[in-house]
Amino acid sequence: MNIILKRGLIQETPSDLLILAQCSDQPTLGGAALCVDEHLHGHLAQVKKEEAFSGKSGESLLVRCQDQEVLRRFLFVGLGKRADLCEEVLREAMACAYHSAKVLKAKNVTTILHGAGAGEMTPRASAKAIAEGWLLASYSFDRYKKPKKDTVIPELTVVIRTARTMKMAQAGADLGMAFAQATCLARDLVNTPAQDMLPADLVQVARDIAKEQEQVSVRVFDRTALKKMGAGGILGVSQGSDHDPYLVEMHYTPKKPSKKHIFLVGKAVTFDSGGLSIKPAQGMETMKCDMAGAAAVLGAFSAITHVAPNAHVHGVFGAVENAISGNALRPGDVITVLNGKTIEVLNTDAEGRLTLADTISYAAKQNPDVIIDLATLTGACVVALGEEVTGLMSNNDLWSERVLTAAKSAGENMWRLPLLKSYKRLLKSSIADYRNISTSRYGGALTAGLFLEPFVGKTPWVHLDIAGPAFAEKKINSYTTGGGTGHGVRTLLTLLKTL
Ligand code: BES
Ligand code: ZN
Ligand code: ZN
Repeated sequence: MNIILKRGLIQETPSDLLILAQCSDQPTLGGAALCVDEHLHGHLAQVKKEEAFSGKSGESLLVRCQDQEVLRRFLFVGLGKRADLCEEVLREAMACAYHSAKVLKAKNVTTILHGAGAGEMTPRASAKAIAEGWLLASYSFDRYKKPKKDTVIPELTVVIRTARTMKMAQAGADLGMAFAQATCLARDLVNTPAQDMLPADLVQVARDIAKEQEQVSVRVFDRTALKKMGAGGILGVSQGSDHDPYLVEMHYTPKKPSKKHIFLVGKAVTFDSGGLSIKPAQGMETMKCDMAGAAAVLGAFSAITHVAPNAHVHGVFGAVENAISGNALRPGDVITVLNGKTIEVLNTDAEGRLTLADTISYAAKQNPDVIIDLATLTGACVVALGEEVTGLMSNNDLWSERVLTAAKSAGENMWRLPLLKSYKRLLKSSIADYRNISTSRYGGALTAGLFLEPFVGKTPWVHLDIAGPAFAEKKINSYTTGGGTGHGVRTLLTLLKTL
């Protein structure tokens, strides 16, 4: 589904439903909305007043009205206070509008560039947010369901008056569509049951993405190659699984030569049973989501040519399944990871960090400008920050701020947690270089971050523990339903766009 931008006058453009938006502290109609209302002899303003529509965010009002023999429908959506108007408010408002349009079985829906008229937002930002809100709200995962026969998918047309605005808005809408599609790809990958999203399937997704984009290539390391390179973390975790592990590196080459290299590393455990340190049944229910870090990296790569960053971007993940067999890794076993360090594995459910020890070491060896990893790493992070906030840990204030700024603009919640040096003692092993779990019951998100730090070396690094936001138990907001959320994709793309 696409968002269409069309030049014209909104009051003269036919549609099943016309979406108008209003701020709570600006009760009178202005701009294009006023033009529409003048065309209807002030009917909209009158009904809006009678129904006491206040423009609070989340509020909506449907108005039916005769327009030259035709019965037309108008939907007002609230935007809240004008000073608070931002991309996120627009995404939410348009997502609300999408759901109403679906209920109303409106096939073609029109709207204008909200927030751009009075100058609060640029036409580009407004069009981007409108496209994202609409398309993300229209997402559903129905690979395993028969489609309902009578569902109407509402199509959106944004009507724009001037050629100049049109040009800026088109760029924004194109970007918004690319961001939304990339997010939906990540959602699909996470939502697909682990039976159909095995390590080899993730490899295939990377290959397909590379095939579609000239500037993207992919390298795949199989079991033999993993043994040769000493990737004992990935190999160790995969020991109990019937499915072969892989290390994948995607590489985007910019058109203009660049010396900058950015590494995006994703946790890619296709299913996390916990291994011999087995999870309780309920804890295992959603563990197909344990490859959401890699899904975010793959999502971002699927739109990378569109964003065209001015840097080499590498996407790395170690695809494995954490299963059980007579050959599974045992608590107490010692493994040697890619950088030569040894790890005493005291809990096989702390497997993500073992695979990341390899993939992060692999990235660090190439001396990049920054490593950003995304991982559904710890339940402790969900305890600390809840289900809607990513825990960010970093050895670099500048990159940390860059990621936080990108996340804010993308509408993804992230919060920095400390890499507290004194907690390092909790990861000391008496028989190996490190143990894979802390000796303390507390602060598990921080000790997981600290565990990863030595593999990064001196490279600037941002670690994102996405265990909470990657998978929603139930609906989060009007554009994020339950299941895989695609969290991280839009932050990564926003960040890449600034390079
Ligand atoms: N994949 C889990 C973390 C997780 C939990 C992700 C909930 C999403 C939702 C990870 O591999 C894990 O099991 N971590 C353990 C670490 C512990 C053994 C130190 C945890 O959080 O309990
Ligand atoms: Zn685990
Ligand atoms: Zn895991």
